[in-house]
Amino acid sequence: MILEIENLKKSFDNQEVLKDINLNVDKGEVICILGSSGSGKSTLLRCINLLNNYDGGTILFNGKNILDENVNELRSKIGMVFQSFNLFNNLNVLKNCMVGQIKVLKKSKEEAKAKALETLDLVGMSDFVNKNVKQLSGGQKQRVAIARSLCMAPDIILFDEPTSALDPEMVGEVLNVIKKVKDTGVTMIIVTHEMQFAKEVSSRVVFMNDGVILEDRPTKDFFENPANDRTREFLKRYLENN
Ligand SMILES: Nc1ncnc2c1ncn2[C@@H]1O[C@H](COP(=O)(O)OP(=O)(O)OP(=O)(O)O)[C@@H](O)[C@H]1O
Ligand SMILES: [Mg+2]
Repeated sequence: MILEIENLKKSFDNQEVLKDINLNVDKGEVICILGSSGSGKSTLLRCINLLNNYDGGTILFNGKNILDENVNELRSKIGMVFQSFNLFNNLNVLKNCMVGQIKVLKKSKEEAKAKALETLDLVGMSDFVNKNVKQLSGGQKQRVAIARSLCMAPDIILFDEPTSALDPEMVGEVLNVIKKVKDTGVTMIIVTHEMQFAKEVSSRVVFMNDGVILEDRPTKDFFENPANDRTREFLKRYLENN
């Protein structure tokens, strides 16, 4: 088991946002987390990446408590891709993909550059290596952010609504890149509202509602035979809006 989350609890002020979350992830799995706004999806990902602290429970990564790990090292092994890209705007595309490798993984410039170029090729951004981040479209930025994360050779990548900030015509290119990343065998947890994509890419769906995991099921079962009224309502609402 690459990730074991046990009895995770998190409150903001008096609001309990994660209520006793239990979730196990095997190496190589691709899991989509679905659920309505405010259900706690981002908070869960942020706890796994130590961007949020938590009030109770444990998160084990490769059998070790993440609270005992060095934060930068942990984040190189558990990558995160954000809705809003979070690139370094003062660095060009290539440097964005090199800096973490040099600073955290202690690689030489040459090694870091070779890995960056290879990874930018995978995401279809080879022609943009010397471009400034500000010159890129949203879809291109997100592809660079995915490459930057992959350059650290993470064991897991967490995606938090990677296409939600994009113009509709750019959603497809980013989703296709994520499918290619899946082919590298890296474990992925993807929070998304793209149901068709979730169906295609994931083997398991975790459905969150009000701080609780209501369903944790193989993807096909989840969509064909949702167990819960709340899930049926969620899927129905989605079908009506698309
Ligand atoms: N830093 C914070 N301070 C206070 N409350 C917060 C903070 N971050 C999140 N919350 C609250 O926690 C709840 C869960 O938020 P979270 O962002 O995890 O939901 P989500 O499922 O990711 O929603 P969305 O689909 O809109 O992104 C919400 O009620 C939110 O207002
Ligand atoms: Mg969110």
